[in-house]
Amino acid sequence: MSNRTFTMIKPDATEKGHTGGILEMINKAGFRIVAMKMTHLSPAKAGEFYAVHKERPFYGELVEFMSRGPITAAILEKENAVEDFRTLIGATNPANAAEGTIRKKYAASIGENAVHGSDSDENAAIEGSFFFSQLEQF
Ligand code: CMP
Repeated sequence: MSNRTFTMIKPDATEKGHTGGILEMINKAGFRIVAMKMTHLSPAKAGEFYAVHKERPFYGELVEFMSRGPITAAILEKENAVEDFRTLIGATNPANAAEGTIRKKYAASIGENAVHGSDSDENAAIEGSFFFSQLEQF
């Protein structure tokens, strides 16, 4: 069990001004932000980040959406970080997200679902290093 996970506040949530509200929910849930930056992914970079989904029918739509506007990327620290963060964000489809979760409050649809959270310790490390060098992780 690792104590770090990776998240992105996606373009839909950025556009709607929800970055502060989402960060507040993250902090209140006991996560410590150990790296953070706001950036705008090019279609090529978004495609690289989500390469694992390349064969899925929604890949094109996902890449277009994730490169539509700025995102906030962060590495979060907490005991049992990956699992606890997935509980905090709720189901991928906001229609199935539990009360009190970030997606229940802020997500519009399965595609535009406000936040990303790593699904394993291994992917958390890969995704964190996609955005942050060792010097940028505290
Ligand atoms: P995320 O947790 O960032 O990981 C993969 C993303 O693909 C997911 O959130 C959704 O934004 C997107 N996604 C998953 N399923 C679908 C779908 N059926 N249609 C469109 N986008 C999807």
